[in-house]
Amino acid sequence: MVLGLATGRTMIPLYQRLIGIIRDQKLSLKRCRTFNLDEYVGLNPTDPSSYHYYMQEHFFRHVDLAPENSHFLDGCALDLDAEAKRYEELITSVGGIDLQLLGIGHSGHIGFNEPLSSLGSRTRPKFLSPQTRHQNRVDFGETTDDVPEQSLTMGVATILDAQEIILLATGSAKAEILAKAMEGPITSMITASALQTHANCKVIIDEDCAHSLTMRNYIEFVLERDPNWASYFLK
Ligand code: GLP
Repeated sequence: MVLGLATGRTMIPLYQRLIGIIRDQKLSLKRCRTFNLDEYVGLNPTDPSSYHYYMQEHFFRHVDLAPENSHFLDGCALDLDAEAKRYEELITSVGGIDLQLLGIGHSGHIGFNEPLSSLGSRTRPKFLSPQTRHQNRVDFGETTDDVPEQSLTMGVATILDAQEIILLATGSAKAEILAKAMEGPITSMITASALQTHANCKVIIDEDCAHSLTMRNYIEFVLERDPNWASYFLK
């Protein structure tokens, strides 16, 4: 299986859960490949604020994934465009991503596809919005200025090429942007809204994150009647 992986605080409990399941059921990831969504420009893998470091810490060092099978964008590449192209070609060469995990930023981004990103974008360097740098400052230091200005990220169209997508969002702070992404118009101002066009995308949220959904009653009505979801649907 080729997995597309995401970072951020939302994903930490998911990786913990996955590590537990892999241990309990004696599963192996030896034949898995992973591609991370994005990376900060200028950070090397040993920098504790890099997404590479995050993945080692929260997932990879706990499982038997072969190091040569986990792929990252190189934030220290001298030619960022060439690095983005290499990544796109590598994803294509392994047959594409089977399952892509996603979080959502306060700006409505997936990966680092900030507002105004083309919905047809491929992997590329992307400057971060002030809102994202503000949101992610806790991973760097005191102020927004400590956060790198630029990232490398899979594009919106790269993400939409995945066979299956799961977006995870938790907490009331994400409720409003999540509702806009799910129920609002498809717009480059909220790149997560492009997921509405994907044929196999599931959005998993907690109670606090559900508050702003206007279609909530209908969603619950449907999920309770869907045998694939009923057992997971917690009241
Ligand atoms: C970063 C990542 C996104 C992630 C977002 C949400 O900006 N580039 O891929 O979805 O953070 O992070 P958190 O889960 O910490 O709210």
